[in-house]
Amino acid sequence: MAGSFIVFEGGEGAGKSTQEALLAQWLQSHGQTVVRTREPGGTPAGEAIRTVLLSNEYTGLTDRAEALLFAAARGEHAAQVIRPALESGAIVVCDRYLDSSVAYQGYGRNLGADYVRNLSLWATQDLVPNLTVLLDVDPTVGLSRVQSPDRLESEPIGYHQRVRQAFIDIAGSDPQRYLVIDANQDKDSIAEQIRRRVAGLLGIA
Ligand code: TYD
Repeated sequence: MAGSFIVFEGGEGAGKSTQEALLAQWLQSHGQTVVRTREPGGTPAGEAIRTVLLSNEYTGLTDRAEALLFAAARGEHAAQVIRPALESGAIVVCDRYLDSSVAYQGYGRNLGADYVRNLSLWATQDLVPNLTVLLDVDPTVGLSRVQSPDRLESEPIGYHQRVRQAFIDIAGSDPQRYLVIDANQDKDSIAEQIRRRVAGLLGIA
């Protein structure tokens, strides 16, 4: 495909949104067409699914229904937003994607990494990022930055620790496609490390 697909992943309070915005601005200042998006969400149906997934109203949602809803939203998002943008040559910068499901549902909920990954691959017709930036933070530090916890942020610390380890293991298995960053560093230094890697990926100065 003509464009490039860059994803930000990490636990709660890792600073993904800040870094995603900084990278998008930098890419635009280099004349790139950037499409910024996020999961769950990115389409009207996806945003509606997001509301169900994050609302504290649905605390009884089963783990499998949760996994299916994330995958459903992702399928919509890939077909309606990400793939068309990539085909038009844009750089898609996305806050969370498939690895969030593997980490949160596969490992956090113990649903099985392979099932969860294959479900999302089926939903997206095998659309995977060119680069994933993992912002790694200790969940006790990350969660302390969260103001009003949503349904998933309210899970016990052990859940968030499984999620953190899962992200580290996933990234470690394919260093070509992942950049792992210690999110305790200052914001500008993190942004610079990300820019350097993305510049290499896209062949820009
Ligand atoms: P996010 O938008 O990053 O939350 P916030 O804006 O509050 O930081 O992500 C929403 C939540 O959904 C987050 O707790 C992670 C979770 N999530 C999953 O459990 N599975 C998934 O596949 C995705 C995309 C997110």
